[in-house]
Amino acid sequence: MCGIVGYVGNNKAQDFLISGLKRLEYRGYDSAGIVTLDKKGKATLLREKGKVSGLESKVSQNARDDQIGIGHTRWATHGEPSERNAHPHQAGDIYLVHNGIIENYKELKDQIKDHQFQSDTDSEVLAALINSFYQGGKHPLSNAVVQALKLVRGTYGIAVISVKNPGEIVVARSGSPLVIGVCQDETLIASDASALVGHTKKAIYLNDGEVATIAKDSISIKTLDSQPVSNKVETIQTDLSAIQKGGYDHFLLKEVMEQPQSLTETLRGRINVKDCTVHLGGPNLSDSELRKIKHIIIVGCGTAYYAGMTAAYYIEKFTPEITIEPVIASEYRYRNAYIPKDSVALIVSQSGETADTLACLREIKKQGIKTIGIVNSIGSTIAREVDGGTYIHVGPEISVASTKAYTSQSIAMIMFGLTIAQAKGVKSNTLAPYIKEIAALPQEIEGLLQSIPDTVKNIAKKYAKKYDHAIYLGRDTAYPTALEGALKLKEISYTDANAYPTGELKHGPIALVDDNAFEFFLLPENDLYDKSLSGLEEVLARGGHAIVVTDKSDFNHPVEQIITVQTGLKLLTPLLLNVVSQLFAYNFAVAKGLPVDQPRNLAKSVTVE
Ligand code: M6R
Repeated sequence: MCGIVGYVGNNKAQDFLISGLKRLEYRGYDSAGIVTLDKKGKATLLREKGKVSGLESKVSQNARDDQIGIGHTRWATHGEPSERNAHPHQAGDIYLVHNGIIENYKELKDQIKDHQFQSDTDSEVLAALINSFYQGGKHPLSNAVVQALKLVRGTYGIAVISVKNPGEIVVARSGSPLVIGVCQDETLIASDASALVGHTKKAIYLNDGEVATIAKDSISIKTLDSQPVSNKVETIQTDLSAIQKGGYDHFLLKEVMEQPQSLTETLRGRINVKDCTVHLGGPNLSDSELRKIKHIIIVGCGTAYYAGMTAAYYIEKFTPEITIEPVIASEYRYRNAYIPKDSVALIVSQSGETADTLACLREIKKQGIKTIGIVNSIGSTIAREVDGGTYIHVGPEISVASTKAYTSQSIAMIMFGLTIAQAKGVKSNTLAPYIKEIAALPQEIEGLLQSIPDTVKNIAKKYAKKYDHAIYLGRDTAYPTALEGALKLKEISYTDANAYPTGELKHGPIALVDDNAFEFFLLPENDLYDKSLSGLEEVLARGGHAIVVTDKSDFNHPVEQIITVQTGLKLLTPLLLNVVSQLFAYNFAVAKGLPVDQPRNLAKSVTVE
């Protein structure tokens, strides 16, 4: 949510700032801006409403050789998307870019008398506050930043420069990520390591409560209490191909299509089909600790939450005497929920930075409950704060809508459930079918992706022209799949889509069946197949427009469309059906001519509350 970049070195700052902002644009794309300083401190501030491409044109007409600068791509919180509200914000001698939210900005604003506010943002208040402590350069910029931050309530990742000292950038974080790229004769900063890929492999991740003063050949990090810290230089694992479209029209399609490989990475070294066992090292729990677990809380938002629901349905099928509660982080953080001592909490997040999920993690830790991360982004805040964890290793997910992460998060959590079941002595003949299907899933997805995309595309194109509402339906393990399918459709095609358990239809949602809506039935051939069929019949009897996605090869009901999935799976079929939902939503949005990778109003990695 919002992206920050910064550069100090011997090259043209504008070049890195623009290329970095393009990489970070998936984090926010309402407006963008950069400011650079020449050697005497003369500033060139360029800002533009809309995408980074607009700013790029402005920059090409105002090219500068300046060797220091900071930039920002915005996801609006305070104030509409506009040039005026775009970052960097100026106050006196300083310029600031900010991710996060300053909660007490109104009260701080009332105390600032010597600044004419130009924007509606909370960020400009922070800029003015820093400037008031800076006093025209009487104090070091880092001291002014620290003094200001001590008065602030809220979250921030900031980068600040001063016209009085055009050789340094001060950065600080609390709740919003910041990473420093270490290079020869230049130093880079970004809110996300993907902006650094291709420039350096060496990175320092700032922790909450740390402030760094950066020059082209030095990095000095202190806590807000002025204690020096020496953070580890870590290696950025991502390579360039992982953050490029690789010939696809959209990142979303690329990410759907790469699921056989990304899931293989999730499984690597963790599953032994010969012995039918699962080994997850990361959670760091002994067999005796695993045996004691009686409750699992699964915390996440959006797709990560649905992955948690999916895993919960599965884990309770094969693990005895266990209660599993998937919870939505933004709700859970303010509940007064009692967590029994024999619990473990799975903290699920692709980005590892989601503010609501992070807040739950901290709260749960305070209660002495062991936390296990199911995270994708290596080195992210959640990954660093959990007690143990399993990286899903799917590589960068650039499309705002999450796809490959869902599949791998679900499977990683099911595998965690299997490790508990193993430790509790559940018989191999109960667990083996799940383990075999998990091992087979990458190939099954591969087969599906080779056979089905054209069929799905044709149906999606047709339906995109006809309908404004969608009703997704599924039962049992296919219910979270239905929820996830509806989320995908609404976020990238702006089509009203809701999901219900098929058995709930008659308790209300069936009233929605009319000619403006279609019904997307996820119908795996499982124990509840016949019961799900009754729901379908009830919809058809009321003139519904049903699309059925099923693995039943002889499915023969008078529905508008049948998408048949050929598979050897029995238990994990819903995860295959979900790939069909992903392709359907993608083609539906493309048919409407929408910006699939960057849907309106959304941003990847929601680091504000
Ligand atoms: O990075 P996280 O997994 O914590 O993100 C959680 C949600 O914000 C995310 O899944 C969101 O719902 C996606 N846009 C869904 O496609």
